[in-house]
Amino acid sequence: MKIDFLDRGFATEGTLVIRAFEGKKLQGIAADVDKKTDGSLTRAIAAKDFKGKKDEAIRLIAPNGLKISEIILFGLGKESDITPLSLEELGAKVTAALERCKDKSAFIHFPALSTKTLDENTATAHVAYGALLRTWKFDKYQTKKKDQPACALKTLGFMTDSPKAAKKAFEPLNHIAEGVFLTRHVVSEPPNVIYPESLAKIAKDLKKLGVGVEVLNESQMKKLGMNALLGVGQGSIRDSQLVVLTWKGGPKNQAPLAVVGKGVTFDTGGISLKPAQDMDDMKYDMAGSGVVLGLIRALAGRKAKVNVVGVMGLTENMPSGSAQRPGDIVTSMSGQTIEILNTDAEGRLVLADALWYTQSRFKPQAMIDLATLTGAIVVSLGSEYAGLFSNDDTLAERLKSAGDITGEKLWRLPLGDAYDKDIDSVVADVKNIGSGRGAGSITAAQFLQRFVNDVPWAHLDIAGTAWDKKGRPLSVKGATAFGVRLLNQWIQTHYE
Ligand code: BES
Ligand code: MN
Ligand code: ZN
Repeated sequence: MKIDFLDRGFATEGTLVIRAFEGKKLQGIAADVDKKTDGSLTRAIAAKDFKGKKDEAIRLIAPNGLKISEIILFGLGKESDITPLSLEELGAKVTAALERCKDKSAFIHFPALSTKTLDENTATAHVAYGALLRTWKFDKYQTKKKDQPACALKTLGFMTDSPKAAKKAFEPLNHIAEGVFLTRHVVSEPPNVIYPESLAKIAKDLKKLGVGVEVLNESQMKKLGMNALLGVGQGSIRDSQLVVLTWKGGPKNQAPLAVVGKGVTFDTGGISLKPAQDMDDMKYDMAGSGVVLGLIRALAGRKAKVNVVGVMGLTENMPSGSAQRPGDIVTSMSGQTIEILNTDAEGRLVLADALWYTQSRFKPQAMIDLATLTGAIVVSLGSEYAGLFSNDDTLAERLKSAGDITGEKLWRLPLGDAYDKDIDSVVADVKNIGSGRGAGSITAAQFLQRFVNDVPWAHLDIAGTAWDKKGRPLSVKGATAFGVRLLNQWIQTHYE
């Protein structure tokens, strides 16, 4: 799909998309359209009792008096309620509404807003961004459907007073979308295609954008003492990998921000094998690493003025004759010994070494990890919010606000000594599951905290939000890339 910004004018082909605010008369292009169609729009509005509320829409097919094939009028709600996110969601609705049309082009008019915080060109860019985010699909394996696309649409043309300014406002958003798409792509690919080495190879492509890419293999990790991560992968025939991405867009002596992702390319549970039902879902157990990859792609694309390191802990959790057993004790890179009581609680083992490595090598000013860590977070929060855990109130607040802006909502859950005691082991320093059945997401976060060495840190449990079975406003069902836009926003607001 091509996104274009054009001079305001009247569309002579394709679909025309216009908007109306709640309780306001038709203005500008909408008033023109009404005149040219002999009052059809006014009649349609009356017939459907259209008020201009958010999510309302009216379609006029083959309007008399005009050459275009369709007019869609979208309600925007009250002008004072407009935010970049609401405009993005509107853009996404435009794409969704055009999905089955035969037109090759659509022209979209969203004329001036009177709000002070958003100028017309920024507003238009956000509508285009939302439209673009919603176009992404994963259909490369549908060999038959591919020949007959549901949608013929090739270009979305956004008409504004200053196409140049709108294009400029759109440019960084376009790079963020590229990052989102990369994340969605690697998360959607099946586990026979995405495994530690193949994902590391995709990460190497970021070199083209000026990103530093280092890949550590098993023997290099062994030398560093990463036995917690390596233990998870020891039942797999695939080599585990640790990918380190560095983006240096900020001042030379600025301590970096660090983003660390769980990257279990398939989680069978290991010897503590998962049930067959829905086990295929565990291909997205590398979503945390997928987000790290997409975020760095976005930052490098838009040349963010900040230093960021991304670390991807990649491994496959398989049962086999060489697999780790429940009861095994491993010594992590930090020196702490871990008793493995359930081989399905593997994400925290991967992160234990990835987090320790990251803080000791890079001394980051803040460290965020993302992980599809627990089924318990899906029970608590479903797919609406991701779980947020942090040892730093300011950091937690900033992340939450960034998520409110991008529509990737976070809900903070507690950490505390009482939960921490629950993972003390009788025979080792720590065990990889809690004693009771309760608070599974918290004891998992508590485990991670033992490996962050007091660096300002936050953990995002994205098990419920990384993949969406119904679809979200800005993504079709499947991989969401939850976290890419959020962390980009957090960085943009506080560190650039
Ligand atoms: N990858 C899973 C968590 C998960 C569940 C992600 C559902 C996405 C959707 C994780 O490795 C896991 O298996 N966690 C266990 C921990 C338990 C054994 C303490 C869980 O949540 O059941
Ligand atoms: Mn598991
Ligand atoms: Zn897992």
